[in-house]
Amino acid sequence: MTVKSGPGRFALFGHPVSHSWSPFIHGMFARQFDHVVDYKVQDVAPDDFRHAVINFFVEGGGGANVTLPHKPAAAEIVNELSARAERARAVNTIIRRSPVELYGENTDGVGLVTDLTRNLGVNLAGSRLLILGAGGATRGVLAPLLEQEPREIRIANRTPERAKRLRDEFSDLGEISASGFDEVDDRPWDIVINATAASLQGEVPELPPRAIGPDSVCYDMAYGRGDTAFMRWATERGSRHAYKGWGMLVEQAAESYLLWHGVRPETRTVMGALERPEPDGYRR
Ligand code: ATR
Repeated sequence: MTVKSGPGRFALFGHPVSHSWSPFIHGMFARQFDHVVDYKVQDVAPDDFRHAVINFFVEGGGGANVTLPHKPAAAEIVNELSARAERARAVNTIIRRSPVELYGENTDGVGLVTDLTRNLGVNLAGSRLLILGAGGATRGVLAPLLEQEPREIRIANRTPERAKRLRDEFSDLGEISASGFDEVDDRPWDIVINATAASLQGEVPELPPRAIGPDSVCYDMAYGRGDTAFMRWATERGSRHAYKGWGMLVEQAAESYLLWHGVRPETRTVMGALERPEPDGYRR
């Protein structure tokens, strides 16, 4: 078996994955450095994931991103996990350390924190932060959010028991409470992050009426063209700061790029390209 060392070939594993923006984003990053980077999506079913990843690296792949539904499986494949990936029990970036040694990192949380603090100017330190959802998306970002030392984090979930399990798992890192949506404090939260899959189905969580105020920053980790259901809902409830997760997507990609290539791309131009209105009028 010959193992090539080619660092120029990268892949995003997901299922489905064909509509991903990541090849576009990594293409724009590569142009900033005159790098020649071949970044392609690979749609593989869960049963084929392990084989596909190992094959990719055996054939000389330089690094990989992993998206739904494979992030937990990727954490099982790699030889070593970063502390964050271990906490998240999920990997979105695989780094090839040697032909036989794969390292797993999770850049989702750093991407979210960077978008909130650097791009949107949100101060997380000392804030009251409400996270909606208690699935993999929440698990992936909790540790980096807690590192910013918010005053408190409440995890609210349709199934409160799942939120409580996450609270118990992460409570050594900071002040976390857990509940169902209806038990959330009925006064404006500083930051409300939607990490549920509800938006994808066009649904929104049922929060008490005053949980969102004009100054509440409402951030949907989901993204797509136009406003998401959560953004529309937050705006209707009076929030003047409703965002979706384009910036998180670009910033987590920039972190992956840094891990693979040793340089961190500038993200503003890429965000600008994603925000540019197209004929159907999409915007960030
Ligand atoms: P993932 O790992 O991708 O986050 P998941 O583990 O299925 O996926 O979690 C999805 C999250 O979205 C969960 O918090 C889920 O709530 P439950 O734990 O009660 O299932 C939440 N979710 C999905 N659809 C929802 C909806 N229509 N309304 C509210 N929450 C929803």
